[in-house]
Amino acid sequence: MHLLTISQPNGKDLRTLCLRYDCNLLQIWAKRAGNGGDFTVIELEDVAYSYGGAELFAQLNLSLAPGSFHFLTGPSGAGKTTLLKLCYGELLATAGQVRLFGEDARSLERDGVAMMRRRIGVVHQDCQFLDHLPVAENIALPLKVAGREAEADGNLDDLLSWVGLKSQAGQTPPQLSGGERQRAALARAVIMSPDVIIADEPTGNVDWEMSQRLLTLLIELNKMGKTVLIATHDLNLIRTAKNQVSARVLRLTDRKLQLAGAEL
Ligand SMILES: Nc1ncnc2c1ncn2[C@@H]1O[C@H](COP(=O)(O)OP(=O)(O)O)[C@@H](O)[C@H]1O
Ligand SMILES: [Mg+2]
Repeated sequence: MHLLTISQPNGKDLRTLCLRYDCNLLQIWAKRAGNGGDFTVIELEDVAYSYGGAELFAQLNLSLAPGSFHFLTGPSGAGKTTLLKLCYGELLATAGQVRLFGEDARSLERDGVAMMRRRIGVVHQDCQFLDHLPVAENIALPLKVAGREAEADGNLDDLLSWVGLKSQAGQTPPQLSGGERQRAALARAVIMSPDVIIADEPTGNVDWEMSQRLLTLLIELNKMGKTVLIATHDLNLIRTAKNQVSARVLRLTDRKLQLAGAEL
């Protein structure tokens, strides 16, 4: 069975590639994705966050079940990026509890934080790269840092094809377009086979066609069992996604997080 439908950047039939995916990378990913625990992957309980004195939000609750798909929306400055940072342990809540894979984020030792970083792949809003290194090396960097460079061999090629960047593999990041950078950032976020993908405005600077292509990739990851959380202010993107995947929409506004209704 094909777990993944590859988007077809240049109209070519990529079924052969899908089959290769089935044989190696996808199997590894799928195995890790359904981690089988009965805990929620990310859980925030009565969480508050303040920068200095100003409280950005308070008494915020959030619970992401394994394999769920969530959008986080809300006005600029509402705290979406901050909330995502709490969800991947980059920031610690100023009040309340954050549990990542059942573990209190505050009690994670250095090793625990490193492990968490491997289990949660992040596409940052600014998607920064090491500009002097080729795209392929940038994407493989997390493996190198983890001392697992050997795994890059076959997987990296598949991953580059999946995001449609095979012919750009040798270019440097400044040579890429906005959409290509976003896809490279997504590839880098998933190279460690994380259980969760968190993307901060992944379609912020790209046209509608590219937004849909990125969305397709994120939906494919979710269909493989990965938990997906995307911050976006693009309501069209959310509407499009809701036709393809069972997605919940959370709105962060006026310091509160609410589940958005059917009005979208
Ligand atoms: N490192 C920081 N130090 C102080 N204030 C910050 C910092 N990061 C963000 N803020 C402030 O917190 C608010 C929310 O920011 P952010 O989480 O980036 O919101 P959003 O992603 O919804 O636009 C903004 O007013 C922003 O200026
Ligand atoms: Mg933001």
